[in-house]
Amino acid sequence: MNTNRLSKTIEAALNAQMTKEAHAAQIYLSLGAWADSQAFGGVSNFLFRHAQEERNHMMKILEYILKRGGKVTVTAIPDPIPDPKNLQECFESVFKQEVDNTTWIYKLVKLSLTEEDWATWNFMQWFVKEQTEEETLAIELLDKIKVAGNEHSALYSFDRDLLGTPDDAKLAQDVTADKP
Ligand code: FEO
Repeated sequence: MNTNRLSKTIEAALNAQMTKEAHAAQIYLSLGAWADSQAFGGVSNFLFRHAQEERNHMMKILEYILKRGGKVTVTAIPDPIPDPKNLQECFESVFKQEVDNTTWIYKLVKLSLTEEDWATWNFMQWFVKEQTEEETLAIELLDKIKVAGNEHSALYSFDRDLLGTPDDAKLAQDVTADKP
């Protein structure tokens, strides 16, 4: 009896997304190591925490495939990106990485819609929200770097702030008029 509740196409797309999340973790790890080597300890800590988040995303998908009776295929992870030249470039890479990932998540949502796989569609909604948060956070951090410019003291404060920066951004849909 076939107990696999995933179509071959969805199963392959979920497996591919698992590798993309693992790749994202490698990118954050690599950027975090670069930041530490540039004496940005706060940035490094933030990026290392984020690498762990990406691995959690990978595990979520892995567990979902298994729970739906599908087959998990663990593959090699592509190399991370080259080191950035400065903090601005570092966070531009973070933003780009998240936008790319959002594109893949949307493709999976569209595929589940086309196949009328409502369980996968429902599962993927968590990722849609997560991507919105991650893009918002990256935009906010890029804005802060822009304000800091090349001033050492401002960049130092930015770095210190990142030690305590929450890992999730506040989303527009959670805002009210009295709590903007
Ligand atoms: Fe797994 Fe940054 O998205």
